[in-house]
Amino acid sequence: MKMLYEKPVIKRLRTGLMNKYGNSPAYMKRVCTEIDGVTVDELAKEYGSPLFVFSEKALRAKFREVSGAFSTRYPDVTFGWSYKTNYISAICAVMHQEGAIAEVVSGMEYDKARKLGIAGEDIIFNGPHKSPAALRTAVREGAMIHVDHLDEIADLEQIAAGEGRQVGIGIRLNMDTGIKPQWSRFGFNLDSGQAMDAVKRIYSRGHLKIRGLHCHIGTFIMEPNAYAVEVEKMVRFSYELKDKFNYEIEYLDIGGGLPTKNRLKGIYLPPDIAIPSIDEYAERITDALYNSLRPGDTPKLILEPGRAMVEEAGYLISTVIATKRLPDGRRSYIIDGGINVLFTSNWYKFNIEMDREVSGPNENSVIYGPMCMNIDVIDESVQLPPLKRGVRLIISPVGAYNVTQWMQFIEYRPNVVLIGEDGQVDVIREAEDLSDIERRERLPERLVLD
Ligand SMILES: Cc1ncc(COP(=O)(O)O)c(C=O)c1O
Repeated sequence: MKMLYEKPVIKRLRTGLMNKYGNSPAYMKRVCTEIDGVTVDELAKEYGSPLFVFSEKALRAKFREVSGAFSTRYPDVTFGWSYKTNYISAICAVMHQEGAIAEVVSGMEYDKARKLGIAGEDIIFNGPHKSPAALRTAVREGAMIHVDHLDEIADLEQIAAGEGRQVGIGIRLNMDTGIKPQWSRFGFNLDSGQAMDAVKRIYSRGHLKIRGLHCHIGTFIMEPNAYAVEVEKMVRFSYELKDKFNYEIEYLDIGGGLPTKNRLKGIYLPPDIAIPSIDEYAERITDALYNSLRPGDTPKLILEPGRAMVEEAGYLISTVIATKRLPDGRRSYIIDGGINVLFTSNWYKFNIEMDREVSGPNENSVIYGPMCMNIDVIDESVQLPPLKRGVRLIISPVGAYNVTQWMQFIEYRPNVVLIGEDGQVDVIREAEDLSDIERRERLPERLVLD
């Protein structure tokens, strides 16, 4: 291919910053013209910009990679799809088609799973706030309820008494696994004896019985050994419950937290080096199970990975709407998708690719979103050639937590599309318009303008 002419430039090198002679290859003029065979241009023209694009192929492949790593090592493994990570119905449906049950943390998410056709007994109900009404429904429908605190135990005991039967529940544990900061606000602390005290209370009242243990040690856990510690502690506790109270623990739910190949801010090694493979996690976790379980015991192992399943299947196509020089000389770009739709830009330094070859020297640039808010920054420092208005930037991976934590703030939320395995593109969430914003508002008669 003939090289494009680049005019020579003289540029002051600043130490500590990436420059023309020391670029990270990940940021050098990367071009992305299509996603799963559909051109970026076609997608943006048909569905607008910004636009979330999900790859069904990537979604299914990731599910199979993660679930395969565990199911080839342990005989009884179930995955709970963490709704909060991405509860667009089509995404949940793909995960359920692949065999995941549902993991929900609110009455809203519970209703969503039921509406999608998931039976109550295939719903894991976690979270610190479950209303008595939601708990009653979950009890009647046989969901796996994981209690978070003593007040919830009291609610459940009352419901069980009303139903005139003993209700099986799971108990959420928190513990020291070496991960800092320790997630200690959910469930009962194992190390201090708080969890055992809760079990004694449950046992003494007799309305409930414990059938499962749950723990979620945190998110983006880069240390497989932390899970080994978690599993060993959970197994030991399950045997204490069996030996002291005759509780049969049917399952150990070790939560989510598996990392992705996204680039966390502040971690300078590339993800391929910094992040252990899924196989390493599966190996450590199943080794810990085999080392701590009594011979012949194989309780169900439940996992709830969220971001690891969906993050890498999602892209945001955005468009440069303006370019500007900042007073300190840096080049900056304003794009049409900001922190309103990319909540995870708080933690990640995304891959930013262009939809075309752009000639010219790379410069340290800032990317701003469209909000009239100073905090709306998608990347503080990225090497980019001189981009013109209209160039599309493809930002990835953004499939986890953004389309649930996005804000309806200042701008409408955009279309979300799913590219099927055969290349068919479907809108799975329509862009908003003014009617969505106003639908829940009420304008008192006296305030209607003439
Ligand atoms: C109980 C529970 N399970 C699963 C998840 C999914 O976590 P991740 O996306 O880190 O895998 C979360 C997220 O916070 C959670 O709270």
